[in-house]
Amino acid sequence: MAEFRLPKNSRITKGKHFPAADGISNVRKFVVYRYDPSSDENPRIDTYDVDMDNCGPMVLDALIKIKNEIDPTLTFRRSCREGICGSCAMNIDGGNTLACTRANDEVKGNVKIYPLPHMPVVKDLVTDLTNFYAQYASIKPWLQSRTPPPPDQERLQSKADQELINEPAACILCACCSTSCPSYWWNSDRYLGPAALLASYRWLVDSRDDATGERLDELEDPFRLYRCHTIMNCTQTCPKGLNPAQAIAETKNMLVERKY
Ligand code: SF4
Ligand code: SF4
Ligand code: FES
Repeated sequence: MAEFRLPKNSRITKGKHFPAADGISNVRKFVVYRYDPSSDENPRIDTYDVDMDNCGPMVLDALIKIKNEIDPTLTFRRSCREGICGSCAMNIDGGNTLACTRANDEVKGNVKIYPLPHMPVVKDLVTDLTNFYAQYASIKPWLQSRTPPPPDQERLQSKADQELINEPAACILCACCSTSCPSYWWNSDRYLGPAALLASYRWLVDSRDDATGERLDELEDPFRLYRCHTIMNCTQTCPKGLNPAQAIAETKNMLVERKY
């Protein structure tokens, strides 16, 4: 599991405790990072007592209950509630994951919830992903073909070729992997990080794409690719069970092989 590091510029203070109402017996404490850079000098940790007899099973259910019933100022992202959109990525119990797929019962003791580590915070659990998305855009995540498409059908692939892109194409761009990567923490201005590199690999191995040489040229740089030191946090933390570290290793192999 990734070592937890606070978001950038954090010096945390003790916050408020929101106790459960009288008569509620099945209480769980949710310990949540709070910070509004536009008004708060420092982040704080608020503690919410949640009635688990009237709460859904997932951490996201508890967050929605807190927002709806206890503290409407709590801010977090979410959309699909199905582990598909990637927007509820956050650090729960010391590891990056999706709040909608992490069950409260999987966490022992208080449920500690922080934003994705080492990222600028927009508010509370919402991090600024501008750089992350720009890095994704920089790998040109679209088909580059030198040939016109067939007039009457899609560009077809063999089953074996399609299977090569199955796993990397399943990435939901949640950023759990990149924000668990120590190399990314220290060099996110120049190192692309595992999410963007997995996306790059998805196009490198696509049999329909004709820009493999240019794509590899773009990666051949001391920082963009080679800051990966195979620490494997990315693969261990991916909530979709993907393997960006292997994709990065295979990309490095492609660069080596084309020299010989
Ligand atoms: S394998 Fe590479 S990308 Fe993954 S956590 Fe380690 S250094 Fe980061
Ligand atoms: S590889 Fe996994 S952890 Fe990384 S962005 Fe994609 S889905 Fe999220
Ligand atoms: S809400 Fe979409 S992945 Fe969690």
